[in-house]
Amino acid sequence: MISCLWAEDMNHVIGKDGHLPWHLPADMKYFKNTTTGKTILAGRKTYLSFGRPLPNRKNIVLTSSKNINDGDVLVLHNINEFLEYAKNHTTEEIFVVGGANIFQQLLPYADRLYKTVIEHAFIGDVKMPEINYDNFELIKSTPGKTDEKNPYPFTFEVFTKIK
Ligand SMILES: NC(=O)c1ccc[n+]([C@@H]2O[C@H](COP(=O)([O-])OP(=O)(O)OC[C@H]3O[C@@H](n4cnc5c(N)ncnc54)[C@H](OP(=O)(O)O)[C@@H]3O)[C@@H](O)[C@H]2O)c1
Repeated sequence: MISCLWAEDMNHVIGKDGHLPWHLPADMKYFKNTTTGKTILAGRKTYLSFGRPLPNRKNIVLTSSKNINDGDVLVLHNINEFLEYAKNHTTEEIFVVGGANIFQQLLPYADRLYKTVIEHAFIGDVKMPEINYDNFELIKSTPGKTDEKNPYPFTFEVFTKIK
């Protein structure tokens, strides 16, 4: 199963200068809890923003470069290689974790969407591609807890593809 997981602000902004535009520890925790023990696929830019392969997950990175060779990381060089991987690992939930370039190409294959909506307008340079939510049903919506470390209202949403 292919799932897309991301956080966006009220204007669909997801990135700034190669990183997240916000610091929201509660969302980082959600990311960790949701993806631990699973497989994650990142585009080369997002992968480099992690600074290292994320522990306790199977890491896949998509890049045209032949120079990324980080130990346990599976490096794939085009979308077809990834779709072939997904076809051969149907029991895995594979989380596509961005960025925008990768979401643009893989949203058509997503069975599930895990979206964190942050009710704030940030300055950024990367936006989430447009999504037709008519193709998806909202199955879970959990408000996050705002506090001094997580100062913006935010909600964790999960959608499933309408077959
Ligand atoms: N808010 C969130 O939830 C969230 C999630 C993820 C990322 N982000 C942010 O989004 C930004 C990065 O997104 P981005 O769209 O600029 O970059 P990206 O999607 O992370 O990476 C793009 C790179 O992926 C590789 N790639 C893409 N399609 C490919 C294909 N079909 N075959 C082979 N390689 C392919 C290419 O690498 P090569 O150039 O090496 O070929 C391309 O330059 C950062 O600011 C990051 O922090 C935010």
